[in-house]
Amino acid sequence: MSPMFVPGPVDVDPEVLAAQNQPMLPHRSKEFEAIFQRVTDKARRLFYTQYRVIITASSGSGLQEAAVRNFARDRLLCCVNGAFSRRWYEAALANGKQADLLEFDWQSPISPQLVADALQRQHYEAITIVHNETSTGLENPVKEIAAVVHQASPDTLICVDAVSSLGGVKIEMDAWGLDMLLTSSQKCLALPPGLALAAISDRAMVYAAGVPNRGWYFDLVLMEKHRLKDSTPATPALSLIYALDLQINRILAEGLEKRFARHAAMAQRVQSWALERGFTLYAPNGYRSKTVTTVGNNLGVNVSDLNKYLVLRGMRIANGYGVLKEKTFRIAHMGKRGRRMWIVCSLQ
Ligand SMILES: Cc1ncc(COP(=O)(O)O)c(C=O)c1O
Repeated sequence: MSPMFVPGPVDVDPEVLAAQNQPMLPHRSKEFEAIFQRVTDKARRLFYTQYRVIITASSGSGLQEAAVRNFARDRLLCCVNGAFSRRWYEAALANGKQADLLEFDWQSPISPQLVADALQRQHYEAITIVHNETSTGLENPVKEIAAVVHQASPDTLICVDAVSSLGGVKIEMDAWGLDMLLTSSQKCLALPPGLALAAISDRAMVYAAGVPNRGWYFDLVLMEKHRLKDSTPATPALSLIYALDLQINRILAEGLEKRFARHAAMAQRVQSWALERGFTLYAPNGYRSKTVTTVGNNLGVNVSDLNKYLVLRGMRIANGYGVLKEKTFRIAHMGKRGRRMWIVCSLQ
């Protein structure tokens, strides 16, 4: 049974799945170090960065937690306009940080101006922003937000969650001046779940070294120490790293720009399909996600029944997330989708 059009885990190409079937290696070995070195090096192209990329055996939430533990001794600002940005805020509180909430309506993007105002009122060590809110199908204007943060509070570290967009949408870590950009394997990278990746700036690494109580498993300073020797502090998810090694080659062979254009075209196709059939779109025009569309269920479709019908036909979409269940439904167009998306959207 194929998950098809859900926002992760997405389908994984059989060739990529098969890449996991390689013999195990001790991670303290020259053979593993050579693989890890080339994977982390190639991965930098996905993030548009010259900085380091770390890879953890965890899902993306682990790196949300790493961000709050490593980049704030005390105080950070969490921008919230959906379920996953709220989770990040909750992770900050759960780790004993003084997290201030800058909350927006879920159908509105984070406003750069209001971020600038908040930074003028109070100094923050770090700010958290979700690039692509998977719950609402809304893409936040991260480039513009980062620009105002640089102006209003140049030393505030900018942490961005691109769990459901990195590899499907162009996000330029260095050009935009981001300090941490994190993602998960099971979304636009079209890998099985179980890996999280993040690019981290030099100044963020320096800052982390002065933050106490970073924990152990997600201590980025410790990870960096090992990464410099092309290794990891704990046992890596070796099979997934084999798959990542191959999948990055496949992504680069497709061409990043072509891949982004393909995601944008799929989004356009799904959004037109929904509008032509009289549905509304949850996110406002200009801020609609290129990787997942949240459709307003104004026509009162029974989404659970619709999914049962689709599953019988080898397809699956996602119900609305949390409080949006049955009020919306989500059609993901991330990873390798393409021809299939066009066929489904041609159906009545
Ligand atoms: C935007 C966003 N952030 C964070 C997460 C959590 O990621 P993970 O499930 O990999 O921990 C998700 C999961 O869907 C997400 O969509």
